[in-house]
Amino acid sequence: MNALLEVEGLCKSFGGLQAVKDVSFSVRPAEVFAVIGPNGAGKTTLFNCLSGALRSDAGQVRFDGTRIDGAPPHEICRHGLVRTFQIVKPFRGMTVAENVKVAAFSRHPSAREAERAARRVLEDVGMDELADVDADTLNVAQLRRLEIARALATEPRLLLLDEMLAGLTGPEAQAMCEQIRGLAARGIAVIVVEHSVPVVLSLCENALVLNFGEMLTHGRTAEVIRDPRVQEAYLGSTGQ
Ligand SMILES: Nc1ncnc2c1ncn2[C@@H]1O[C@H](COP(=O)(O)OP(=O)(O)OP(=O)(O)O)[C@@H](O)[C@H]1O
Ligand SMILES: [Mg+2]
Repeated sequence: MNALLEVEGLCKSFGGLQAVKDVSFSVRPAEVFAVIGPNGAGKTTLFNCLSGALRSDAGQVRFDGTRIDGAPPHEICRHGLVRTFQIVKPFRGMTVAENVKVAAFSRHPSAREAERAARRVLEDVGMDELADVDADTLNVAQLRRLEIARALATEPRLLLLDEMLAGLTGPEAQAMCEQIRGLAARGIAVIVVEHSVPVVLSLCENALVLNFGEMLTHGRTAEVIRDPRVQEAYLGSTGQ
């Protein structure tokens, strides 16, 4: 199957610090793909470059065959690529439904249609009962679900999820994994940045490992995790 996302030689520096160095990989439609690596490896920076929040210094990003590197986030979002944030930031003083409606405006300029789309998405992610609740009152798990809902309201074909499981309890994390599998089952590709190896193994067929901005390896997740260089860099041991 043709790749949905193709990244080739992507680079991003902050002053003298090369946060992303010559990174290349591809993601198929409806695939759940992992980007893993230790703190500061460049995972969030990679997401920022893909979603247009940051402009990369070199390299190419193709989405469904179209160059999107250098395009602003709203344009990349219109193509169908959208990200969530490691630190969840809902619009304060707005209800859950209003938060999702703001995102739905990107596809539905009419307020009525946007409202309808927002309600549909909330039902989809199991948050319809919280639709009229103030977003400020949500707990961490609900805030993360709201992040997914806001992203889904833009009708993506590829979703970038940055540490969506952080701070969740075991059952909450499990529910979130089910949600992610459900997205892929209906044709939405997902790239997850995730620290938990068991989660990555159970969710993602393929994985890319970053270390100090460089690609350490990529390929089938099980093989990638077994790689001694990954054990060394990511897990801090040789596994022996
Ligand atoms: N806006 C910025 N300005 C300067 N340096 C930055 C900026 N954003 C990130 N960095 C640096 O780039 C490197 C990669 O950071 P990044 O946040 O992408 O890592 P990460 O893999 O997401 O880490 P974590 O697992 O802790 O979230 C780090 O050394 C970080 O300090
Ligand atoms: Mg990060």
